[in-house]
Formats: sequence, structure tokens, C-alpha cells
Amino acid sequence: MKGLVLAGGTGSRLRPLTYTGAKQLIPVGNRPILFYAIDALVEAGIDDIAVIVGDTADEVRRALGDGQKFGARLTYVAQSAPLGLAHAVKSARDFLADEPFLMFLGDNLLRGGLSGLAKRFRSGAYAASILLTEVSDPRQFGVAVLDGDRVVKLMEKPQEPPSRWALVGAYCFSPAIHQAIAGLKPSWRGEYEITDAIQQLIDWGMAVDAARVEGWWKDTGRPEDVLDANRLILEDLQERLQGQIDEESQVSGRVVIEPGAQVLRSVVRGPVTIASGALVEDSYVGPYTSIGQDVRILRTEIENSVVLAESVIQDVDVRIDQSLIGRGVTVMGRQRRPRALGLVLGDQSRVEL
Ligand code: TTP
Repeated sequence: MKGLVLAGGTGSRLRPLTYTGAKQLIPVGNRPILFYAIDALVEAGIDDIAVIVGDTADEVRRALGDGQKFGARLTYVAQSAPLGLAHAVKSARDFLADEPFLMFLGDNLLRGGLSGLAKRFRSGAYAASILLTEVSDPRQFGVAVLDGDRVVKLMEKPQEPPSRWALVGAYCFSPAIHQAIAGLKPSWRGEYEITDAIQQLIDWGMAVDAARVEGWWKDTGRPEDVLDANRLILEDLQERLQGQIDEESQVSGRVVIEPGAQVLRSVVRGPVTIASGALVEDSYVGPYTSIGQDVRILRTEIENSVVLAESVIQDVDVRIDQSLIGRGVTVMGRQRRPRALGLVLGDQSRVEL
């Protein structure tokens, strides 16, 4: 079975971070979300993987390389425009040839991995196995109507949901999906929808199997989702203290301090991860925080947050909480009078004071 990871798309809900970078490369637990996706495929026994790329192709390629570091062989497939998940499959038609494949969205995270899904699909004679989870408000999802383990109908974002089983971003397909995609028309939102293609398989009388998520699933489409994902990943953190911690600092709970990071006269309460080259000085870093490479946190309190590489946060006199801070950002408290705010914010930034 081959693998298909989707790392194109627009990422509009994660602006302004996605103006300068791929959303799939935003780190949680100081590791790009996309890395967990490749790991999950490899763990499921799939190492021949195509990565769908769009405008951020170069950055994605640089981050993943040829796949060797994941134990995978990666092929990059350019999607001409983000015209939907079914269009992404179509773009990879040559790579996929006539083999079954597992498709996974590169901005999704699954605690339980993809092995269960791959195993179900391999053991049955299905046209597709799709992964589902129960959600409280299915109206924003693709929703499946089930008869036991069989999917009998799919609906995209229904106003009156027929069930609470929502599609998450993992699907196994037999090559029959290509015929279904060939006949698709764009949906009301102008995209070629994979749910329409799966519905076509059902309409042709083919078997579509329902697999259920084990453990948690997280789509990282919005800033608050990235913070949630960071929290979930940090729940599983294994302590590793390799950087410098001076005698005046207190580090407790599960904390990772990478080699080359420094913690001076500070309190760090895990789960927290601090990447190489980062400096935390006269500060407090509280639970569920990831501090990226070469970041400087000076005389500041921060928790439940993700700070991307090379940012500087200093002299902020209220605690920073639930914040997602991009690359190379500067946040500085002002000591002098007047104590006014001085803001230089890019388009679509969001500040809560
Ligand atoms: P989405 O999050 O549904 O779409 P998006 O990335 O365009 O984001 P937004 O709605 O905020 O503008 O996409 C899910 C995943 O699939 C994500 O990793 C991007 C990828 N994708 C493609 O590779 N090609 C596509 O045509 C689409 C729609 C998504």
C-alpha cells in the first residue's frame, strides 16, 4: 500500500502564520505537525509516500528531505491549485498507479496512529476504509451514516446531522476511487470533495468500511487547535534535560531542555519543551508551553503557549497565556513612561489585551 500526505492547501484560518510558512510545518511539542504524519504512515508499514505540495513546496521539501530520516521514500507532487482533497488525489494519479493507498491530511494528528486503519483495510475487501470519530457538533464536518461498520451515506457539513460520526483526515482507498473522482463536479464551495467521491463508491454498491479513532484526533486548522495539539503532544512528553540549568532555577514536572538551551534564574513547570539555542532568563515557563529554537524569554511569565523559532519576549508584565507566537516576533514590555502600547502588527494579526 502506498501513502499520500496532503501538505498543500491555503491555510487561511492560520493567517498570519501561513503568509510566511506552511501550516503543516508549525511545530507542536517543538516538532512540525507534518513529521508526526509521516511517522504515523511509516509505523503503519507504509514507506512509499507522495507528499502533495502547493505554494509552500520548497519549505516542505526542505523540512522533509527525501524521507530517509523517517525511514520513508518521499515523492513530491505539485498540486496546481488547492482545489480540494479529491483534486489532490487526482494530481497524484501517476504516483498512485493502480495500488491501494492511505491518504492522510498533513495538518491532522492522531494519538493512536494509522496502523489500525491500515490493518482493517488490508484485511477486508473494501473499496475504502474511512476513519471516523464522534463529535458533539457534526455540522462543520463530513458526517457518515452507518449500518454497523458499513458506511451507507455521507453528507458534507449537514444542517441537520444524521449522526455524530465525523470524518477525520485519514482514508484508505482501492484504485476504484480514481473512477469516482474522474466523474466529480466541483461542490458549492468550488472544491472537488473526497466525500462526494466516496459517496459515488457507495452509490455503485461498493463496500465502504467505517473505522473508529482510538485515542484523540486533532485537526490543527485554527490557532486554538494548534495550542490544543501542543497540549495533547506534551501530555506524552518524556523528560530530557540536556541544556544548561543554573542553580537558581527550578525545573519540575516533565520537561525537555534540548542541548544548547539555557535556563537561568527561572522557574519551569512541565510539561514544557525548550528547543536548542533558546534562552529563558529571570522568567516563568508554565505547563503546556513549547519554546522554539533560539527563542529568548527574558523577565516574562508564559504558559499554555507555543513560541516559534527566533522570537524574543521580554519584560512583559502580565502573564502570557494561550498564545501562538510566530517566527522572529518581538514582544517587549515598556518600562518608560508613558506606559502605552507600541504595536507593529502584520495583516490579520490578533492581539488580546
Ligand atoms: P484544509 O484545512 O481543509 O484546507 P486549507 O489548508 O486550504 O485551510 P483553510 O481552510 O484554513 O484555508 O486542508 C486539509 C489538509 O489538506 C491541509 O493539510 C491542506 C491539504 N490540502 C491540500 O493539500 N490540497 C487541497 O486542495 C486542500 C483543500 C487541502
